[in-house]
Amino acid sequence: MKRAIYAGTFDPITNGHLDIIERSAKLVETLIVAVAKNPSKQPLFELAERVELVRQSVKHLTNVDVVGFSGLLADFAQQQNAQILVRGLRGADDIEYEIQLAQLNNKLSPTLETLFLPPSVEWRYLSSTMVREIFKHQGDVAQFVPACVSKALQYKR
Ligand code: COA
Repeated sequence: MKRAIYAGTFDPITNGHLDIIERSAKLVETLIVAVAKNPSKQPLFELAERVELVRQSVKHLTNVDVVGFSGLLADFAQQQNAQILVRGLRGADDIEYEIQLAQLNNKLSPTLETLFLPPSVEWRYLSSTMVREIFKHQGDVAQFVPACVSKALQYKR
């Protein structure tokens, strides 16, 4: 009965995130998508908006829950009774940081293991920052994000 957490800022959720969510949800009993408040990033979307956009994007998945959180991820995982952290590993640039984070989270909560998934090849280059950048310069982001995000972005112009 494994419960896993996939955490991120999701400002906004992209097709790359959705790919990781869909694939990891097949590996566990319940996947909790944890949307970080993350004030250090000064997000474009408020926490409640980001949670709602993730909810709409995953509504076809029956074993996925979406919640907002602040504070330490290791503490949140304990509260949620989750044993696994899912992380996407897009390439060599991610590895050092991700291993450090995995070890730190395991130190903070020794029963917590990190599971890395490579992204599907078409989303390897994608990030929320790039989506926001394309949007800022009036580009069309429809191919990179769920439809609800494209729609929500129009109200940010
Ligand atoms: N597809 C598309 N984009 C992806 C991706 C994928 N598969 N995987 C990662 N990304 C993007 C993210 O969108 C993010 O883009 P951005 O910087 O443009 O917003 C970037 O890659 C980095 O991802 P990530 O490292 O997951 O950052 P994040 O801000 O989304 O999430 C938290 C980081 C919330 C998981 C982390 O800060 C955290 O755990 N915070 C809580 C405090 C804590 O416990 N800290 C650790 C111990 S000190």
